[in-house]
Amino acid sequence: MKRWKRHLSGRLSKMLLGATTLACLTIGQVGVATGADVGQTPSDQKPTVLITGANRGIGLALAEHFHQQGFAVIGTARKPEEAIELKDIGVEVYRLDITDPESVASLKSELVGRPLDILLNNAGIGGHSTSQLKDLDIERLKNTFDVNSLGALRVVQALMPNMKMSSRRIVASMSSRMGSIQQNTGGAIGYRASKSALNSINKSLSNEFSEQGFVFVVLHPGWVRTAMTNDSATYSTEESARHLYRVISELSKKDNGQFYDLHGNSIAW
Ligand SMILES: NC(=O)c1ccc[n+]([C@@H]2O[C@H](COP(=O)([O-])OP(=O)(O)OC[C@H]3O[C@@H](n4cnc5c(N)ncnc54)[C@H](OP(=O)(O)O)[C@@H]3O)[C@@H](O)[C@H]2O)c1
Repeated sequence: MKRWKRHLSGRLSKMLLGATTLACLTIGQVGVATGADVGQTPSDQKPTVLITGANRGIGLALAEHFHQQGFAVIGTARKPEEAIELKDIGVEVYRLDITDPESVASLKSELVGRPLDILLNNAGIGGHSTSQLKDLDIERLKNTFDVNSLGALRVVQALMPNMKMSSRRIVASMSSRMGSIQQNTGGAIGYRASKSALNSINKSLSNEFSEQGFVFVVLHPGWVRTAMTNDSATYSTEESARHLYRVISELSKKDNGQFYDLHGNSIAW
């Protein structure tokens, strides 16, 4: 945490020095990445975080919080033209459907040469769910896995070159406590299994890229009031994002391959 704070305050000081100049320039003058639907000009001086599914829910709150903390935020949305709240924060917005290889390839080409310090695989769905096995439409679970498990894998594979351009190399994927096999109390078969698969994928990547200094973690954001849940959930999106930011900003090499909740407590696999 202290290391990050020092890093950020150093970067922010440089930004403040250049703020007057930047304020005089238009977005076009300072150069905008091709294909981006831009709310505000990026600054090379800031550490950069990319957040998938940033147009609403926890992703939107994370985008806002990282932006407030001095990060250059790249938020992705399936429909950037409708991501009004995300653009209003003043971050870069790119189109991305994590189930569509062409969409992932397009983002990859748009971000060539752009270092990414943190990748936050946040996009996810509840997916098809029933309380009884006899009602389960197993074919529909394929989509749950495509989004919740394979989606993050596609994004990581595509953006590896960008991550390698940074010395931080943090990849945090939004899992769920429901992906814990040990804590499985039944129900939501597809969602639970898709998050367990995401956890397993994360563990594999943490092993493969350990020697290159990567830190791969899966996180549980708490029970959060979003379209995926209901009003009785424990946390607001802002509260969850604030806690998650703290956990993410404190990550170091020793955390590689771990599963944490929003307070930084380990969750059993
Ligand atoms: N809320 C909770 O209590 C809770 C608890 C544990 C874990 N989580 C996890 O936290 C993450 C965020 O959840 P949330 O509650 O904020 O959900 P949410 O409000 O429903 O938002 C989900 C986000 O994912 C995006 N998304 C869905 N499918 C996508 C795809 N194929 N490609 C790209 N983006 C896609 C959505 O975009 P569109 O607007 O285009 O649909 C939206 O931006 C998820 O991974 C979820 O599993 C949430």
